[in-house]
Amino acid sequence: MAAWVAFYLGFALGLGNIFASSVEADTVQFGYSGSLGPDHWGSLSPLFETCSTGKSQSPVNIVKDEADRNKNSKPLTRYYQATQATLVNNGFNVAVNYESDAGWLIVEGKNYSLVQMHWHTPSEHTIDGERYALEAHLVHKSTEADITVVSILFQYGDADPVLTRLQESLKRLAEESAQDVQAPISLGVIDTSPLRRKTRKYYRYVGSGTTPPCSENVIWTVLGKVRTISKEQVAALHAPLKGDFQHNSRPTQPLNGRKIELYNKLKN
Ligand SMILES: *[C@@H]1O[C@H](CO)[C@@H](O)[C@H](O)[C@H]1NC(C)=O
Repeated sequence: MAAWVAFYLGFALGLGNIFASSVEADTVQFGYSGSLGPDHWGSLSPLFETCSTGKSQSPVNIVKDEADRNKNSKPLTRYYQATQATLVNNGFNVAVNYESDAGWLIVEGKNYSLVQMHWHTPSEHTIDGERYALEAHLVHKSTEADITVVSILFQYGDADPVLTRLQESLKRLAEESAQDVQAPISLGVIDTSPLRRKTRKYYRYVGSGTTPPCSENVIWTVLGKVRTISKEQVAALHAPLKGDFQHNSRPTQPLNGRKIELYNKLKN
C-alpha cells in the first residue's frame, strides 16, 4: 500500500519535524511501506540522501553483552518542569511541542533544552533483538541546534500516567484529523517531570534522526528501564494517524563499528 504523507518543510520546522533541514517550502513525502518506505527514503529527495548514505544511522539493536561499561559515563543530569505545550499531528507521528522552559538535560557537558516528545509504534530500538510495544522520544536541542534524544521503551501493562493526562486531547486530535483539521491542540500547562524518575541504567551511542532527513550526530540515550502502557493508550495514539503511519517504526540500522556505552549504577 502506497500510503503516504505530504508536508511542507517550512511548516514542519515550526511544528514538528525538528530534524528537518532549513529549507523553505518544499513538498516531501515518505512512508513506512512500499515505494515510500524506509528502504527508499534516501532516494525520495536529495534532502534525504543521508538516510541511505549515512554510516551512523538510528535506530539500532542494542546487544547487552556487547555494550561498553564506560567508567567515565555519568548519571543522567536532567530536570523537567510544568510548561505550556501543544499536541500536534505531524502526519507521520503524534507529538507534544513544548513552548519554553520545559526542562534541560546535560550530555557530555552540554546543556540541551527539552523541546518535543513524540511516539513510535512498535519501538524503533530493540534490545537483544526484542522489539517493544512503543517508544517515546524526548527531543532536546542545544542553543547551537545540536540534538540529543532520550528514548523510553514501553511494554503492554498498566497505563502510563503521562499519556493518561493527554487522553482527552488525543481524542480531540483524532476527531479533528478525521476531518483533516491541522490545528495544534493547546494542552495548557503539562508536567513532564514523571518521566524523569531516577535513571540507574541507560545506553548511549551516536546516531541520527529516525525520520527523513535522517540527520546524523544525534546523541542517543536509551533508558534501561522499560515502562508500561495500556493497549487503549496505544490505540489512542494510533487514532489520529492514517493507516501506514500507525506502524511508524524504522528498521534497525547497522552499527558500522559504533560502540554502545552502558551506564549502570547498580553494577559500576
Ligand atoms: C541548563 O540551562 C537552563 C536554561 O536553559 C538553566 O536553567 C539550567 O540551570 C542549566 N543547567 C545547568 C546544569 O547548567
